Amino acid sequence: MCGIVGYVGGDNALDIVLNGLKNLEYRGYDSSGVAYFNKNNLVFKKSVGEIKNLQQKLEKTNLKKTVVLGHTRWATHGENNLKNAHPHCDKNKEVMLVHNGIIENYIKLKNELKNVNFLSQTDTEVVAQILGREISFFDDKKVVLNKFLKVLKKLKGSYAFAVLFKQFDDKIFFAKQKSPLIIGVGQNFNFVASDISAFLKHTKKVINLEDGDYGYISKKEIKIFNNGKEISRKTAIVADNFDEINIGKHSSFMEKEISEGGYAIKNTLLHLKNLDFSKLKKVIKGCDKIFVTACGTALHAGMIFKYILETKCKIDVILDCASEFRYKNFLVTKKSLCIFISQSGETADTLSCVLYAKKKKAFCVAITNVLSSRITKMVDFVVPTFAGIEVSVASTKAYLAQLCALYYLIYVFCDVLKLKKPFSVEDIFALSKILNNFCQDKNLLKIIPNFINNKSLFFVGRGQDYLLALEGALKLKEISYIHCEAFAGGELKHGSLSLIDEKSYVFSLITQKKLADKMLSNIVEMKSRGAKIILFSQFKNLKDNATYFIPLKKVKESLMPFIAIKPLQELALLCTKQKGLNPDKPRNLAKSVTVE
Ligand code: AGP
Ligand code: GLU
Repeated sequence: MCGIVGYVGGDNALDIVLNGLKNLEYRGYDSSGVAYFNKNNLVFKKSVGEIKNLQQKLEKTNLKKTVVLGHTRWATHGENNLKNAHPHCDKNKEVMLVHNGIIENYIKLKNELKNVNFLSQTDTEVVAQILGREISFFDDKKVVLNKFLKVLKKLKGSYAFAVLFKQFDDKIFFAKQKSPLIIGVGQNFNFVASDISAFLKHTKKVINLEDGDYGYISKKEIKIFNNGKEISRKTAIVADNFDEINIGKHSSFMEKEISEGGYAIKNTLLHLKNLDFSKLKKVIKGCDKIFVTACGTALHAGMIFKYILETKCKIDVILDCASEFRYKNFLVTKKSLCIFISQSGETADTLSCVLYAKKKKAFCVAITNVLSSRITKMVDFVVPTFAGIEVSVASTKAYLAQLCALYYLIYVFCDVLKLKKPFSVEDIFALSKILNNFCQDKNLLKIIPNFINNKSLFFVGRGQDYLLALEGALKLKEISYIHCEAFAGGELKHGSLSLIDEKSYVFSLITQKKLADKMLSNIVEMKSRGAKIILFSQFKNLKDNATYFIPLKKVKESLMPFIAIKPLQELALLCTKQKGLNPDKPRNLAKSVTVE
């Protein structure tokens, strides 16, 4: 899920593109680069690591450029090094190409290119070399566009391309297939980019390109084609309010966003109370099956939704992670209700499931935090969350906003189906006050040095607490790089207990009275093998069963996931800070996974 930004306009293009890349850094930060014309040659500058390294390389050049292409990379093909950084060029440096996606048949295409000395291991460079071969002798726009299309038709997989051709020094060419790509429409300038955060402070006028679109932008022109024919696409005005993202007094965006958990719930709820659910209510009345799919943290939110709907409302939910869902050929029909949860609304695996469900004519609902994202244009009904921009790769406030939206949906289900409501909207609203600030739990801080160097850490729970354990383990592992594993308490004796010894630290959760005794026997089993137990619970009478007890504020049991997840998020952050790592940009990851 790389980030692309290209700009044609005034002579401050380099600064504009570098700032645009900064806003796209959440899409990947392995390496970055820019390409531009220097007299009538094409030039590129690249650097490994964060965008600031590229900015440092370029800051003394104060180049006045009017056409610049930029890219920030998350590697899929070819390790993270300077050679594999984008832009990539052909052997004569007559084509400069940046890419988001995966060219699945690149090996076959590479083998067809004789006597080409490839400089990188990437799939992307193969396309640059082919374009160089096909296009370099032509300077007729029509001919070049036809040859561009001919090359695109050879490709299998996903791509968003932005390209500079040496013979057109006032244009940026583009093409889109499965990966996101949009046009930013300006007065005497235009952008092509992966998403709106690249150019929103310059223009709110956006053209959403569709699969198969290709064409070019110049300072005053936007030309879009599809399958050889010129087409026009609607210009929309972006609703998202992407104010300047600033970290304020916090030490990281993750710390800031954990502290905004309460606002995320309140803002989401205020909007949902005014949303017209009538279209969805009709579907709920008549649907035969409910499917839920998502990835990562969004999936964990979906699991809580499934658990509460099944245990409190006796409504079955079929759930699976998107990367599995799309290959299981679930019996989705036109009477099915399919719910997709995605903070970014751009996750390739989740979007593929939307396409599958649409083909089956199911009613598709998206729960997303980015109103201009692709998923919102693909589904029948959008349940927006209003967590605000979530910058840190580790999702925290967005998870709470997703829970808020999902619990609100449970409330709507109960309303429509005349079922007893397990909680009120006021109960959910009251959570926002409890969660409103970031309070580093003193007990947690004290014990972290005891386990920070453990090879593995374990999370154990039953019922909804097992689902919270899954999210707690993901949060901690993805930013601290400590191996973390979550177990269902009842599963321990079926194998995982063999991992427990006197060095083990186990984070246990007990938020449901009916499962407390069973979980306590699991705790005894682990303690008798020497494990230290850190117990998170609102039941203070359980305190003596734990090595360390972290008290939770008491709310209705079905709402305890909102409360219990906060110390787990704080735990992940505190461990990461203790290890001197950057919680916002963990290695190998990116905020939005737009490749499958
Ligand atoms: C969350 O901490 C992770 N970074 C990741 O699992 C994320 O939840 C997942 O990639 C799904 O993203 P989405 O919600 O934007 O679809
Ligand atoms: N496949 C390209 C590369 O590995 C682009 C990766 C991406 O879009 O994340 O450089």
